[in-house]
Amino acid sequence: MPRPIRFAAAGDIHADDANRDDLARAFRGVDATVDLILLAGDLTTYGQPEQAALLAEICRPLEVPVYAVLGNHDWHCNQVPEIVALLSSAGVRVLDRSWAIEEIDGASVGVVGLKGFIGGFPDSQLPDFGEPLLRQVYAETTDEVDALAAGLEAVAGSDHRIVLLHYSPTASTLEGEPRGIWPFLGTDRLAEPIAEHKPDVVLHGHTHAGTFEGSVGSVPVFNVAVPVIGRDFFVFELDGATVHAAA
Ligand SMILES: [Fe+2]
Ligand SMILES: [Fe+2]
Repeated sequence: MPRPIRFAAAGDIHADDANRDDLARAFRGVDATVDLILLAGDLTTYGQPEQAALLAEICRPLEVPVYAVLGNHDWHCNQVPEIVALLSSAGVRVLDRSWAIEEIDGASVGVVGLKGFIGGFPDSQLPDFGEPLLRQVYAETTDEVDALAAGLEAVAGSDHRIVLLHYSPTASTLEGEPRGIWPFLGTDRLAEPIAEHKPDVVLHGHTHAGTFEGSVGSVPVFNVAVPVIGRDFFVFELDGATVHAAA
């Protein structure tokens, strides 16, 4: 039986000059108390390389591995390659339609990471129809869903399996957000590979006013956006297929 793992998760940290010291304190506080730190996108406030650089400097000295996905804010200045390079140079593993397996004391932890995208839920779904621009949006989500499925296949043999997203794969964690914007907060098209492969836990952010705990079938889904968790990081323990808040 592989040993349980502890991980600290947060989404929407929105790094900026204004919160640099608070973030540095938060990361230092959780470092070495967990096995992994997972960041569910919106790493920066406006996607400026300077904001990624300050997050990189905060992460550089950390002892534990940090995995991150990008959020929509990280795309805002169209400088994603620069942002990824800055974070990577500080040891942050940015997963973008990709996956990794981390070995922790003999336990393998598969992390599948992607931003996800929009598209809505059963009563508000964007169809693959009409103008090329809208069909392009649909196709972008299709690529995310395909990458999620491929990643889950790749980590199928890992002792623990975690999915890290920015957009939500379920409406169950959106309660609290105005229903009119739900199609822009995620899509249950992302739920299909999750329901099929049943990872141990799914984490996402983006929905600042949503609900902490939801599910896709039997798979627990947590919205770890900082405004939702109400703290710097939420610490989970993953024991077999059971995930719970760490004491
Ligand atoms: Fe955000
Ligand atoms: Fe976001």
